Amino acid sequence: MISKWILASNNPGKVKEFNRFFRNYLEFETIESKGIQSPQEPHKTFVENAIEKARNTARISGSPTIADDSGLIVDFLSGLPGVRSARFATSSKSIKVDQDKQNMDLLLELMTAVREESQRTCRFVCVIVALRCVDDPDPIISHGVWEGRINFEPKGTEGFGYDPIFYDPKIKKTAAQISLEEKSKWSHRAKALRKIKKVLIR
Ligand code: IMP
Repeated sequence: MISKWILASNNPGKVKEFNRFFRNYLEFETIESKGIQSPQEPHKTFVENAIEKARNTARISGSPTIADDSGLIVDFLSGLPGVRSARFATSSKSIKVDQDKQNMDLLLELMTAVREESQRTCRFVCVIVALRCVDDPDPIISHGVWEGRINFEPKGTEGFGYDPIFYDPKIKKTAAQISLEEKSKWSHRAKALRKIKKVLIR
């Protein structure tokens, strides 16, 4: 039997990705369909934000819930943009116009002095948390990482967010120069999804 979970996100792309990934096993409903407001992300770490999003949604819905939190970590910037990745340049979630471009412009500006590629190390991180119920004392936590470098300029047209400036030295392309299918071989989210699938579906 396919069990129903809630995904603590209002991002339709994310809901589609989760439903495709768990097809025939789990089915995800959006928080919007349950009349639950978009979750806050007030903490300093991805794992704390993901737990808070999942717990809030489980409390209101009474259903098993999954939440994720992800972002880009740049070593030269001591971990920034980190949990502020989505709103790095604008500091407000409501200003959506060209937000990705503004975030990338700011990041490239902050990295101007760093001319050596070896000094431009960064990684995408994704943490996924599954709560079987609101007071689940043993959440399932999954972590995925994708190592790369901040490119000197944006390249490619695929993807979203920081993809055009995230360069993977192994495949010698930015994340915006590869298809969604290829991205799912390497990406932080795909790795975290594959790990949590092994635990959720036995
Ligand atoms: P959230 O996990 O939906 O809160 O996403 C946080 C932010 O991290 C996004 O808005 C993007 O700016 C960035 N991000 C997370 N994953 C990716 C990715 O796969 N490519 C590009 N940017 C990403």
